[in-house]
Amino acid sequence: MRERRRGRQAKCPAAVSEKTRLPAAFCEFGRVLRNIVLVGFMGCGKSSVGRRLAGLTGHRFLDTDELIVEKCGQPISEIFATKGEAAFRDLETAELRELRGVCGIILATGGGIVLREENQAILRELGAVAWLDASPDLLFERVSRNQKRPLLQTENPRRTFDALLESRRSIYESAADFRVDSTGLGHDETAQLVLEECRRFEAGRIRG
Ligand code: S3P
Repeated sequence: MRERRRGRQAKCPAAVSEKTRLPAAFCEFGRVLRNIVLVGFMGCGKSSVGRRLAGLTGHRFLDTDELIVEKCGQPISEIFATKGEAAFRDLETAELRELRGVCGIILATGGGIVLREENQAILRELGAVAWLDASPDLLFERVSRNQKRPLLQTENPRRTFDALLESRRSIYESAADFRVDSTGLGHDETAQLVLEECRRFEAGRIRG
C-alpha cells in the first residue's frame, strides 16, 4: 500500500440515495471522480478533511456517525450507553448497506467501521478508501478535547487509546487503498494530499 467527512439534509436515506445514485458504468470509467471513503482512528480528522474534500470535488459530504445520529435521534454516546456497542455496529452496517450504489460522495466513517469484513467490502465497493493517519500523540490530543468518544471514557484513557490504536492499525492498512499521514499538516493540505493520492490510485486502477 502506498504511503502517502455537507451533512445530509433529508431524514429519509432512500430520498438521498435516489438523488445521488448514478448508473454504475458512469462511475466506473474515470469520467467522474468516484466516491472517496475516509477511514482511520478517532481524531484523525475524517470529518474536517472530508468536508474540505467535498468542497474541492463538488461531491456531497456524508458521515456515517451523523447518519446514525440522525436516524436514531440520539448522540453516539447515548446510543452506546442505552443500546450498547454491538447495536451501534449493526447501525453502522445498516447505513453502509443503504449507501450501496450511491455516487458522488465523500464518506467519513466512524473509527471502528473497519472492524467488520462486510463493512470493509462495502467501503471498497463504494470507492477509493483512504486511511487518514497521524501520530498517536496528535490523535490523542485531538480526542482529549471533548468527551464524545464512549470507548475512551475509561479510568486510563491514554492506555485504552494506545491499545485500541495498536489493535486496529493492521485493519486500517488492509481495509484501505492508500494511507495519508496528516501529521504536521492542516486540514486543507491534507485534503489536497488525499485528492492527489486518490487520483493516482484511480489512474493506476483504470490502467490496470
Ligand atoms: C468509534 C469512533 C467514533 C464513533 C464511535 C466509535 C470507534 O467515530 O463511531 O464513538 O470505534 O473508533 P470517530 O472516529 O469519528 O471518532
